[in-house]
Amino acid sequence: MCGIVGIIGNTPVAPQIVEALKRLEYRGYDSAGVATLEYGHLARRRAEGKLRNLEAKLSDAPLSGVIGIGHTRWATHGKPNETNAHPHATEKLAVVHNGIIENFRELKAGLEAKGVRFETETDTEVVAQLVTHEMRQGRPPVEAVAVTLPRLRGAFALAFLFDGEDELLIGARHGAPLAIGYGAEEMYLGSDALALAPFTDDVTYLEDGDWAILRRKGADIRDASGAMVRRPRHKIPVGSFMADKGNHRHFMAKEIHEQPEVVGRTLAHYVNFTAGRVELPFELPFDFRALKRISISACGTAYLAGLVSKYWFERLARIPVEIDVASEFRYREAPLEPGELALFVSQSGETADTLASLRYATAEKLHTLSVVNVPTSTMARESTLVAQTLAGVEVGVASTKAFTCQLTVLLSLAIAAGRARGTLTPEEEKELVDALIAVPGQMSEAMKREHEIEILARELSKAKDVLYLGRGTAYPLAMEGALKLKEISYIHAEGYAAGELKHGPIALIDETMPVIVIAPYDHIFEKTVSNMQEVAARGGRIILITDEKGALESGLDTMATLVMPSVHPVVAPILNSVPIQLLAYHTAVFMGKDVDQPRNLAKSVTVE
Ligand code: F6R
Repeated sequence: MCGIVGIIGNTPVAPQIVEALKRLEYRGYDSAGVATLEYGHLARRRAEGKLRNLEAKLSDAPLSGVIGIGHTRWATHGKPNETNAHPHATEKLAVVHNGIIENFRELKAGLEAKGVRFETETDTEVVAQLVTHEMRQGRPPVEAVAVTLPRLRGAFALAFLFDGEDELLIGARHGAPLAIGYGAEEMYLGSDALALAPFTDDVTYLEDGDWAILRRKGADIRDASGAMVRRPRHKIPVGSFMADKGNHRHFMAKEIHEQPEVVGRTLAHYVNFTAGRVELPFELPFDFRALKRISISACGTAYLAGLVSKYWFERLARIPVEIDVASEFRYREAPLEPGELALFVSQSGETADTLASLRYATAEKLHTLSVVNVPTSTMARESTLVAQTLAGVEVGVASTKAFTCQLTVLLSLAIAAGRARGTLTPEEEKELVDALIAVPGQMSEAMKREHEIEILARELSKAKDVLYLGRGTAYPLAMEGALKLKEISYIHAEGYAAGELKHGPIALIDETMPVIVIAPYDHIFEKTVSNMQEVAARGGRIILITDEKGALESGLDTMATLVMPSVHPVVAPILNSVPIQLLAYHTAVFMGKDVDQPRNLAKSVTVE
């Protein structure tokens, strides 16, 4: 996704905005732009490509305004050209946007029916046109934004600049981060504190649903209901910007909450939102149609992401998948055929066992494809193909956002394979892509259950053992839930296939044993309900993670039911990662554990 900067200053702001945007270059982008007020009126400079192209434009035609907004864009809807670059503007306002407006098609159709003409292929322009439409009806800027924000669905951050308003910027946060910076008679907006570092160390992080009205002397912050709220101001210690926890107590919490943004960013790299198709950002040196098998190897959480993808590759593309933990794969001397695909999943790209498996597959002349988060890592350098996850730096030892980004990339690959092999029709592909596009917004919705989860975590913290159950893709997710809980709270936990319960683990069930069941309403829901009944009959205390339909249909007395947004069953494991991560996190915090650096664990395991 993109970078946002906004400044109400006292000297020309365009050079400052470009400097701040340079600090956001690490996020990746393919065009950039600035808008200021020149003698009270909106003026823009935008350029395709890197910031030096924008600087060249500004040097040919400088902007002198003392209030402005700027943006680096990572194309999602529409090509990365100058027309689609932000800020988008009308005669009334300019706006920059990070994230995805999920319902832009229907909003656009509504405006077009009223005669509004669109100039770009972006989802952002719909926001510019909606607010403009309200202003044309006579609403002042703040009111026009207030009535527009509730109409937008998705995960996004926005910053607005208005024609003739040299004292006003409005910022809004819904699923993608946005921070306010305070200066001396100057105010700032930034998509993270890093962007604001050259100007101020005095920062407020907006909370989800907040929007802020900035004037030269300060900011009024309102929550989603429009009520005025106070949010804490933080002093950011010099030198800590790369490792900024934002409003959160721990990196793990920050990284859990970043997921709508980074999953959206990753998605934008693999999916053409407008066409509703997966478009891989690389050429394949093999043909999916000719693949007889995929061998996946990885460790820990990355292995579990691989295990979820086994279901996807097999169901959507009908490719048989073998999967191993990398420490086994490398020594099991598996017979491999040249031309097969060996797939590796790793956040760090440095994990010794996974790297050794990659080298083994390379020696056996397989095509190698690594899904990695660190593009400069050894695995990225040594693989034939690299599918990058755009999770950003993951600091918490327990992997969270890297996992959901891995799932996003793996599902995109499975869809691409399904299309190539003719096992998915274009309509089926579009349905899956639309389901994927909705995930960041639904993750933000899921996070609204955090308080409920926190209360539940207090109960969980009393347990000595916890069992996680699931079927289909919820089975590897059950294992991931158990892994998250044990690694940061040190409570013993196991993840089982719900159908395996009766073959042994059911002996463990009694009234002291919490059993967390992940059961979205899908084709195997009823089977999982039968397994839950087996648990209930033995006094086990069930925590059910499901959706509305599942909650309605389960008919069971549970200790708690966490109702998640209803989603397409294929994308459910990405969404249901949120409650299992939050449950582990709050349990460990309640128990006073060091969640970011659990005992005995390291972030990058470069030993066998
Ligand atoms: C668990 C966790 C580990 C890693 C594993 C692989 O939360 O983070 O299980 O997933 O050590 O690391 P990478 O992905 O760097 O290869």
